[in-house]
Amino acid sequence: MNLLHIDSAITGENSVTHQIGAAIVEAARRASPGLNVIHRDLAADPIPHLDGGIMGKLRGGQGEANDPDVLLNTVLIEELLAADIVVIGAPMYNFSVPSQLKAWIDRVAVPGKTFRYTENGPQGLAGGKKVFVASARGGIYSEGPAAAADFQEPFLRQIFSFFGIEDVTFIRAEGVAYGPEHFKAALEAAIAEAHGTLPLAA
Ligand SMILES: Cc1cc2nc3c(=O)[nH]c(=O)nc-3n(C[C@H](O)[C@H](O)[C@H](O)COP(=O)(O)O)c2cc1C
Repeated sequence: MNLLHIDSAITGENSVTHQIGAAIVEAARRASPGLNVIHRDLAADPIPHLDGGIMGKLRGGQGEANDPDVLLNTVLIEELLAADIVVIGAPMYNFSVPSQLKAWIDRVAVPGKTFRYTENGPQGLAGGKKVFVASARGGIYSEGPAAAADFQEPFLRQIFSFFGIEDVTFIRAEGVAYGPEHFKAALEAAIAEAHGTLPLAA
């Protein structure tokens, strides 16, 4: 059983999504002793953004297999495809996801690997896994007037659906900027949910 754990917050030890994601992974370890966990902290160890040169190597066939950009991409895609469970720490930054996470997405979204186009439209190639998103946002978007400004969680749901993964669970702390009491309550509730949800789902 393989678990891929991706963190993308830039806030280090204080990160809410780090804490929620860690609780999900802890629950997964309890549910599956011997779980093989790969952890990537995209803020501590950033993935270079996709650019024209890298895309030419990946999609244009101009890259040798031992080229560092090609090698990194091969590893990133293998990690995703091999995972039974994917845990993504994804804070809301400017209504969307951190650019560090977008960089990872842009590197694993490769035709023929995680999706392909057919005469009936796109087809995901990375199905059969569970995704848990550890989400945090300063405001409240799950209901109320700001819901339409949420380009973080719907974006992630769409990306994973595009890859063929529909089993996506969001565990969120929101309204964390509403004051210390709200912060504490939202974080504690999310961590409790993380501990309780995965063993039931695994
Ligand atoms: C660069 C940056 C941008 C942010 N943008 C938003 C935003 O658009 N909407 C919002 O509700 N909160 C926003 N926040 C607040 C974060 O979503 C919140 O602090 C959350 O806890 C961040 O997750 P983290 O603690 O794992 O970094 C932003 C925070 C940072 C650091």
